[in-house]
Amino acid sequence: MAHVTDYIRTIPDFPHEGIQFRDVTTLFADRDGLRLAIEGLVAACEGLEIDTVAGLEARGFILGGALADRLGTGFVPIRKKGKLPGRTIEQAYTLEYGEAVVEMHDDALHAGQKVLLVDDLLATGGTAEAGLRLIERLGAEVVVCAFVIDLKDLGGRARLEGLGQRVEALCA
Ligand code: PRP
Ligand code: ADE
Repeated sequence: MAHVTDYIRTIPDFPHEGIQFRDVTTLFADRDGLRLAIEGLVAACEGLEIDTVAGLEARGFILGGALADRLGTGFVPIRKKGKLPGRTIEQAYTLEYGEAVVEMHDDALHAGQKVLLVDDLLATGGTAEAGLRLIERLGAEVVVCAFVIDLKDLGGRARLEGLGQRVEALCA
């Protein structure tokens, strides 16, 4: 039986020396791999009430659009600064290999909406926490943070669970 890890490759020293970069393009490029990832994430969220899916740029968009379609919801993008055309709120963060700012449209969610937050990979959790903070600032609630990969040594799960979040991941 195939597993998502069969389709993910590791590229050493990208984008900086010392980083073991988990490359999901090979997972997404393969029809069986992509289906395994989407169906695994749908199964991990079974039974949860989800009104909408929010995806983190850029790889969270690929998963998020497919997941939203499966769950019968809409999709909301959390983008790197300067990409969204409307009025935005922003949040700075640090991640395994740098720092950045993400934004959401300030009318992307409404109060009380239950959100699935998705990305390909959880490392330090900086990116996901920034997304979570934006969603909460709009009055919505993250019911689950879902990832294909959890790089366990980098502490992202503990960080998000420490914020009261439910974390789902398909592999380490
Ligand atoms: C990667 C990955 C996550 C983030 C995880 O994105 O897709 O979004 O890093 O790291 P963290 O848990 O330490 O925050 P990246 O910032 O490389 O952006 P990209 O998807 O636009 O390439
Ligand atoms: N984002 C943060 N750390 C990463 C890694 N090691 N591989 C791919 N994406 C990442």
